[in-house]
Order: sequence, then C-alpha cells, then structure tokens
Amino acid sequence: MLNISTLKNQQIYLKSSPMDKLLEEHFEIKISNVENLNNDQILVEIIYISIDAANRAWMQGRTYRSQVLPGDVMGGYALGKVIFSNNKNFNVGDYVEGDLGWQNYAIKNENELIKTTIKSSENLHMSVLGITGRTAYFGLELANLKEGETVLISAAAGAVGNVAGQIAKIKGCKVIGITSSEDKAKWLIDELGFDGVVNYKNNNFVKDLRSLCPEKVDVYFDNVGGPIFESALFAMNNYGRIICCGAVSQYDQAAPQNGPRGVPGLIVTKRLTLKGFIVMDFNQKEEEEAENTLLGWVNEKKIKPAEDIMIGLENTPKALIGLLNGDNKGKRLVKIK
Ligand SMILES: NC(=O)c1ccc[n+]([C@@H]2O[C@H](COP(=O)([O-])OP(=O)(O)OC[C@H]3O[C@@H](n4cnc5c(N)ncnc54)[C@H](OP(=O)(O)O)[C@@H]3O)[C@@H](O)[C@H]2O)c1
Repeated sequence: MLNISTLKNQQIYLKSSPMDKLLEEHFEIKISNVENLNNDQILVEIIYISIDAANRAWMQGRTYRSQVLPGDVMGGYALGKVIFSNNKNFNVGDYVEGDLGWQNYAIKNENELIKTTIKSSENLHMSVLGITGRTAYFGLELANLKEGETVLISAAAGAVGNVAGQIAKIKGCKVIGITSSEDKAKWLIDELGFDGVVNYKNNNFVKDLRSLCPEKVDVYFDNVGGPIFESALFAMNNYGRIICCGAVSQYDQAAPQNGPRGVPGLIVTKRLTLKGFIVMDFNQKEEEEAENTLLGWVNEKKIKPAEDIMIGLENTPKALIGLLNGDNKGKRLVKIK
C-alpha cells in the first residue's frame, strides 16, 4: 500500500511575471510532501509534460484558460498515471491527461482529468496523436484543402507546423514552410518532404517567399502572427483561406504588438477567409477520428513523428525558454518519470 506522506513533490512555480523575454529567473523550484487527498480526489504521477508555445501566452493574461500568476505552480498539459484514488471512476494504473502542472505529482478532482488509452507509445500519444497532431489535423480540416493547392505554414519545424506540413503533403498539396535556420529548412525538405522552405530571418524573406510561390498561396496555416502574418497576407491568392492557429511571435513580451498592416483591406480585396480555432473545440468522436487517422498515417509511414525530448522536471523552464527561441525541432516534451 502506497504511503503518500513519504512522497516528495518537486514543483516549479512562476516567481514573477516576465515583462519582456522569459528567463529562468522567473521560475523557482520548491520541494514539499504530497498532501493527503480529500474524498473523491485522485493522485497522479506525471510522466511527460508537454512544452507548448501557449505556456508563455498564459502568463500574458487570460486566454482560453486563466492567467498563470506569480505564486502559481506553472501550468502545463501532461500525461500521468493514477497512483492512488479516492474516486470510484479512477483506478490505480489508469492513464490520465490534463493541465497537471510542472510537478512530479498532482492531486486532482475527477472533472480536471481525462482518462486516456495509449494506442502506441507514451511519447507518440503526446506528440502526433495528442493535442499537437490534432491541432494540425483539425486546422487543415477547416481549410478544406484541395489537391494541387499551395499551402504555406509558419513555425513549420515546430510541433504543430511539421505535422500540418506532412498532412498537407498527404492531401496532394504543394507545401512551403517558414522557419528560422538553414538546418531546419534542410530537415523539413530532406526528411519530412516539404517542397520548399523560406527563412524569415533572411533579409530576402519576402522575395524568397514570392519566388517559391509564383502561383501564390491558397492556404496559410498561421502559427506565428505578427510581421510573418502580414507578409503572408500579401502572398495570398484571391479566395485564399488563412487558418489562425496561434501567434507565437507575440507571446514572449509583455503584450502583443499592434498590427499587422493589410487588415482589413487585403481581406476584402482578395476575398480571404480567416478562421481561428482551439483544439478543444472538437468533440470526443472527432478526436477519436483524428487520432485513428493520424495513427494510420504514422503506421503507413506517411507521417514521420518528430519529437524533441528533454529529461527531468528541473529542465522544464529551459525547455520552454528554448522553444520560444526556436531551439526545438518537432514536439518538445519533458520526461519526468
Ligand atoms: N489553436 C490551438 O488550439 C493550438 C493548439 C496548440 C498550439 N497552438 C499554436 O501553435 C503554434 C505552435 O505552437 P507549438 O506549441 O507547436 O510550438 P512549436 O511550433 O513547437 O515551437 C514554437 C516555434 O515558433 C517559432 N518562433 C518562435 N518565435 C518566433 C517568431 N518571433 N517568429 C516566427 N516564429 C517564431 C520557433 O521556430 P523557428 O525556429 O521557426 O523560429 C519555435 O520552434 C503556437 O502559436 C501555439 O499557440 C494552437
């Protein structure tokens, strides 16, 4: 029988709200004993923490979740296993996921956990088959892709972006990625089958984009917002669709900038459609359909999983800061257990 009071919980707290770029000094680590559970509560041991660009946006203010404030255990989506339960619907050994936070152990109520089944490996469950892959999948479903169309994807070498690019290739599209380095560009083309990649850090970015898409862009999958969104607006075809997935270029600062230019003028003259979405908008049936389709594509080797795994809870601040600076290729996870 597990003796809860002997368990030590390492927790990473947000110490102060960043006013500009996120630094390790904005976090602090504390160690405490795991508390006793109330009736109906569940004790989860965390296995993988998902490092998401959105973690930084949560510090800026209310998003689709409440703001993370100084003194809070840092929020984070995670996969874990139930190790003790006072709840009749959860048993020891059940896999669960949810916003479990940056810590070794989480005490949760039933409504804060999703019971889950691992259909492959734990890491694939948290990458292509998880929120990341489903975000790419649902975003492109909303774009209603047609074979032969040109699809442009920003943060293409990141978690969502690389899967979106691989799915667009499966659908028979020409896929152009946007990223920050020649190394990532080569990886996207040689390993993941992208047709071309533009480096937004090059002075010739707009010219390079134009020369890679002479026929212009039918669908832009926007992960970054800001100046890149603006450049993409000018590169769109009439009746193009822009899928607004996120705005990572605007997260690592006190507040998002104004802009971009071309709104609403170019939206009107080019008859563009902009569609924002949140991955949680979809129901269980749609999620299962997405997961099964993605698993099928992985098994058929049409999608190559790209994971970037760091080890140890103490490395979670570094993992997020690095992701915001573009040092990840594919899905960044921190393995805790
Ligand atoms: N709508 C939803 O439900 C949903 C769900 C999940 C994620 N998202 C969004 O999807 C996007 C990607 O998130 P992710 O968690 O998968 O992260 P990620 O793409 O794995 O990592 C973020 C990437 O953004 C790029 N980046 C950072 N600063 C940038 C800047 N100033 N300009 C352009 N690119 C920059 C970096 O790559 P480079 O080396 O290319 O710069 C970095 O690797 C985010 O906007 C996130 O909010 C949305």
